[in-house]
Formats: sequence, structure tokens, C-alpha cells
Amino acid sequence: MTAKIKLRSQLHLLTGFMAGFVLAFVLLLYVYDVSRVTPCWSSSSTMSTATARIRGSPPARILCMVLTCPENVETLARTVHDTWGQRCSHLIFASSEDYEPLGVVQVVEPGGGGYEDLWNKTREGFRHVWEHFGRDFDWFLKADDDTYVVMENLQQLLSGFDPDTPVYFGYKMSRYNVSYMSGGASYVLSRQALDRFMTQAYESEVICPQPKKMGIEDFYMGICLQNVGVHFVDSSQSLDGDTKPKFMPLDLEHYMSEANITIPQWLRQMSFSLVETGLTCCSKYSVAFHYASRERMFLYEFLIYHLKVLSPNLISERNQGSQLTLSDLIRRFPLEDNSNIKDLLQMSEKPENF
Ligand SMILES: *[C@@H]1O[C@H](CO)[C@@H](O)[C@H](O)[C@H]1NC(C)=O
Ligand SMILES: *[C@@H]1O[C@H](CO)[C@@H](O)[C@H](O)[C@H]1NC(C)=O
Ligand SMILES: *[C@@H]1O[C@H](CO)[C@@H](O)[C@H](O)[C@H]1NC(C)=O
Repeated sequence: MTAKIKLRSQLHLLTGFMAGFVLAFVLLLYVYDVSRVTPCWSSSSTMSTATARIRGSPPARILCMVLTCPENVETLARTVHDTWGQRCSHLIFASSEDYEPLGVVQVVEPGGGGYEDLWNKTREGFRHVWEHFGRDFDWFLKADDDTYVVMENLQQLLSGFDPDTPVYFGYKMSRYNVSYMSGGASYVLSRQALDRFMTQAYESEVICPQPKKMGIEDFYMGICLQNVGVHFVDSSQSLDGDTKPKFMPLDLEHYMSEANITIPQWLRQMSFSLVETGLTCCSKYSVAFHYASRERMFLYEFLIYHLKVLSPNLISERNQGSQLTLSDLIRRFPLEDNSNIKDLLQMSEKPENF
């Protein structure tokens, strides 16, 4: 697989060079391209789509399906919608009740959307997505409403793979010696994998567990996909030179304890990759973190997309000759009025609000 990725990136480079020189080639590729569905992120001009595709590979079209329930719609689902969900090509919430303002779709009966019905909700969510969008997107991400996803890193990870091959990405685990991808850490199916799930697995009780109470959603999904010839790509093996996991089944804070008491034993027993703690726990190109509260999602959002860290060189360059003069200092930051400071010797022993 590694060799394949290298070959693909070399091919992209080659295509880029040729495009710069030969305009006719551009037109030829454009003609070749028109049979494809127009990506939802593309501009209305077909010509600019063709050139953009040649300069670098276009971003993959990723549909995000987030499982939620009516109780979480105004809290977790809204937060997903306001943060990382904005960066999906298309965002859908699968629930047991519609809620149009956020794009929440009812996929199971009211009352059939609780935790014990998670397997049925996942199956029905995928059925809805496949029926309505099965050909319109390249990749299908399944996340829970308490997962935070870094979509740009997911794009990078997927760019080495062809969505028309049967592949399934995530944090690889094992239960009863059967492999599957952790559900809470989120997982991704290629268009081809989703198609096989729906056309070969969904209805067959010998290939894929049928809906029942307390079904183990992620484990069952692994069984169904194995049985229809889908390749499992453990995220720790998916990028060259980076062997750290990228879909994290715990909240990031749990990995930061030095004493590593915050890592549950089941995770060590069931994980394929080594569970490490501290700053080396996770890939620098991590894609997803589970168990995110609303506050945690906003915290990730702030740290990843808003906080800027200036390099020391940049700071000294920008401040060259622009230090505040004393008169500016006096004007902008006048001295405090210290007349309210009481006699220090009389100061109360027990201050208020202390
Ligand atoms: C699964 O969901 C579908 C759609 O709501 C429903 O028809 C079916 O009865 C459910 N099955 C179970 C076992 O809950
Ligand atoms: C899993 O596989 C290992 C090695 O083949 C074997 O020793 C072990 O008994 C198996 N465990 C289960 C639960 O089947
Ligand atoms: C963390 O736990 C693992 C497995 O229990 C152990 O091998 C490792 O030494 C521990 N690390 C620390 C810093 O305690």
C-alpha cells in the first residue's frame, strides 16, 4: 500500500507539470471529466474546476454522518454543526426525529434511537445516506455527536486512496479476535465500501448482524465489512513515516497523564497500536477525538483554528523601531490614581473575596 501511495503522489506531480505546458491537455482532461458528478464544493464555472483539478488534486468530497438523539440536538449536535461540521462537504445528523434547522434527519422510529438501538440507527443512517447521496460523495464519515474531527487532516489521509476501492479507516481494535474500527473515534467508508455494505451486507443475516437491541455497533460494522471484502486501514499505518494513531477513542486529555492511570485497561487489550501517553500519544496529523463535551469541542476549535503562535523571528522583525515612546506610554497607559490606597498599616487581615 505504501508503494501505491508514493506512486500516486508521483503521478500527481507529473500531471501538474504537464498541465503547465500543454493547454490542449487541459481541455482533453476536462472532456474526460464531465461524466463525473459536480462536486458540491466546486464553483459554477466548469473551466475553473478543470484547471483546479490539474494544479493539485481537488479536495475529496466527504459526507459526514453524525449520530445523535433528540436530547442532544440543541447541545452536542448544534456544537458539531457550529464547529467542525462546517468543514464537511455535507453534514447530516441521523436521529429518531427530524430537525431541519440543523439538518437532522429521522432514520429510525421515535423511541428507537436510544443507545441500545445504536446498531439499527447506524444501519438506517447509512441506508439513508446511500439512497440519497451514495454516488455524490467520495467518502462517508460516521461520527458520534461527541466526536471532534479535524477535517483537513482527514482530507490529507484520504488523498492517497481511491474512493472506488473498498476501504475502511479508523482506530483498529479487536474483540473476540475479530477486527473492527472504534465507533466513538469515528470511521470512514469509501464510496465502494458503503455500496458493498448496502448491496451485499445490509440485508443478509449470514453476512451482517441484523438489527437487535444492544447490538455492538462498531464491532458489527467491522464484521459486515470484513465479510464483503473491504480493506481495513488502521490510521496508524495510513501515512508514510508516521506510526501514531489518528482516530483517538478517548478524549485527548486522557492521554496526557504521565502516570497513565487514565488509560483504561480494555483499551490496551483491544488496540492494535501501542497506547502511549504524553505528547507522543497521538499523531501530529490526528483526525478525531472522542468524548468531547460542548466545551471541549470549542476548546479544540480555538486551539486548532484560532490561536496563533508567533515565531520569535517574526516578533523581533515586527517590533523593529516601533517601540512605544515614553510620551506614548503616558498617553495610552496613564499612571493609576493611587489615592484610593489605604494606609497599608491599617489594611484588614482578612480581605473580602479571597
Ligand atoms: C430498525 O429501524 C427501522 C426503521 O425505523 C424499523 O423499521 C425497524 O423495526 C427497526 N428494527 C429494530 C430491531 O429496532
Ligand atoms: C485469539 O487468538 C489467539 C491467537 O491465535 C488465541 O490464542 C486466543 O485463544 C484467541 N482468543 C479468542 C477469544 O478466540
Ligand atoms: C503505562 O502503562 C503501561 C502498561 O500498563 C506500562 O507498560 C508503562 O510502563 C506505563 N507507563 C508509565 C509512565 O507508568
